[in-house]
Amino acid sequence: MIKGIFGRLLFVSLAVILITVIILLVLLSHVYTNFYTTEKEKSLIKAGKEITTTVEKYLKNEISENYLTNEIKGLAHKYNSEISIFPMQLDQETNQSLETFTTHLTEDYFTSDEVNKVLKGNTVTKVTPEPEINLMSVAVPVVINDKVVGGVSLHSPMYDVVNTSSQLRRLSAFVIIPAALIATILVYFLTGYFIRPLQDMSKAALKIAKGDFSATISLQAKDELGTLAQSFNFMAGQLAKVEKMRKEFIANISHELRTPISFISGVLQGINDQTITSAEKEKYVALAIKEIERINRLINDMLDLARLEHGDIKLELRKINLAELVLEVLAAKEPEFLKKDLKPELDFRGQTYVLADYHRVQQMIINLLDNAIKFSPPGGSILIGIQKNAALATIWIKDYGPGISKKDQEYIWDRFYKVDKTRRPEQGGSGLGLAITKMLAEAHNGSVGVKSDPGKGSTFYFTLPLWSEE
Ligand SMILES: Nc1ncnc2c1ncn2[C@@H]1O[C@H](COP(=O)(O)OP(=O)(O)OP(=O)(O)O)[C@@H](O)[C@H]1O
Ligand SMILES: [Mg+2]
Repeated sequence: MIKGIFGRLLFVSLAVILITVIILLVLLSHVYTNFYTTEKEKSLIKAGKEITTTVEKYLKNEISENYLTNEIKGLAHKYNSEISIFPMQLDQETNQSLETFTTHLTEDYFTSDEVNKVLKGNTVTKVTPEPEINLMSVAVPVVINDKVVGGVSLHSPMYDVVNTSSQLRRLSAFVIIPAALIATILVYFLTGYFIRPLQDMSKAALKIAKGDFSATISLQAKDELGTLAQSFNFMAGQLAKVEKMRKEFIANISHELRTPISFISGVLQGINDQTITSAEKEKYVALAIKEIERINRLINDMLDLARLEHGDIKLELRKINLAELVLEVLAAKEPEFLKKDLKPELDFRGQTYVLADYHRVQQMIINLLDNAIKFSPPGGSILIGIQKNAALATIWIKDYGPGISKKDQEYIWDRFYKVDKTRRPEQGGSGLGLAITKMLAEAHNGSVGVKSDPGKGSTFYFTLPLWSEE
């Protein structure tokens, strides 16, 4: 993996360096050649003009031929060029001839058209490609009394262009080699920096796959990799939670089922081997049936929860009169109230209509009422109230039981959570009632809550959306 990314990054970096240097080189040499050519042209034209003035002086007999020759030699040296003078014709007015200075150079490098152009008073410049070094030629006219009497041509090799190009090439080699070295080192460290978290993640993922959820990645970076590492850690955390819940769930179910099943099998065995006498038989069979009912309820509750969790439950929403429903539940629960000598007290006036599933609301009230009955001291009372606020109705049930500590209040809505874990089976309950109530309320877009003072009692409530005409 390192080699893969390392190789690719290195290749890209080196390619970028090479391409940049080549582009720079081409651009620089182009710009330089242009600049150099114009400068050279300018200086040759200037030299040509200087010579023409000297030639003019010579033709006017102001200076000797010797002087002219020396002057031309001097300028030829100064401008690193060869100089020739044309045409080969006598100047009528001055009696001086330019013939003696004529060399073959003009004819070698300029066409007769170009020579004629000069003789018409124009300056002509051209670059002749030579095998070794290109040659720049410039021809300027010699004018006396507004009349062209000849021309001067200068021919100079373009040494500097060639030199500069090769220097640039050498220079770029000096740039490319250290830049490539630096790039290699940088890429080496950078790939390490980028790859390490990915390798860590891959290792951690393997660990998690093997069931070790402690694997996390410590990367504080604020970039995309940092975000990825954070998401990875979050995912690992969630997986650990799910795994913990799965284990707890299985442990809870086994625990809830083990006690009643071993009781039932004890009863059946006792009857079979007659350790349970026929006088006791009726009592034990009744107890066994109760346990079977409990298992049945547990299984139904679990199925309910599973359906609620998957959103599989279909609510049959309709207009419900809450007061009526509460009274119905109370009537059904009368025997249980009487058994513990409990008094129900009602706190609602008028009618409150909600939009809800009748049987599910009944189930929620029963769950809360069952708890209130179960935890109330005998001879006490249980308050049931209905309140309307904004778009919601609140149903609350208050008991004067043991209450629930702040810490336990956080967990009582979880599946299988019981405050008193040592409770005897005949006290019933598997810790699913509140979890189901909460999910049902939420399925109705309502919510649940509890207010409780240890030692003083608890008030449980849930809300439901009010029924409205529209
Ligand atoms: N009114 C209450 N007073 C004191 N504690 C309560 C009250 N209601 C619930 N609890 C605590 O919350 C726990 C969870 O309640 P929940 O109704 O979910 O389970 P359960 O009553 O034990 O079993 P199930 O409802 O499944 O028969 C109870 O075991 C109890 O410890
Ligand atoms: Mg309960």
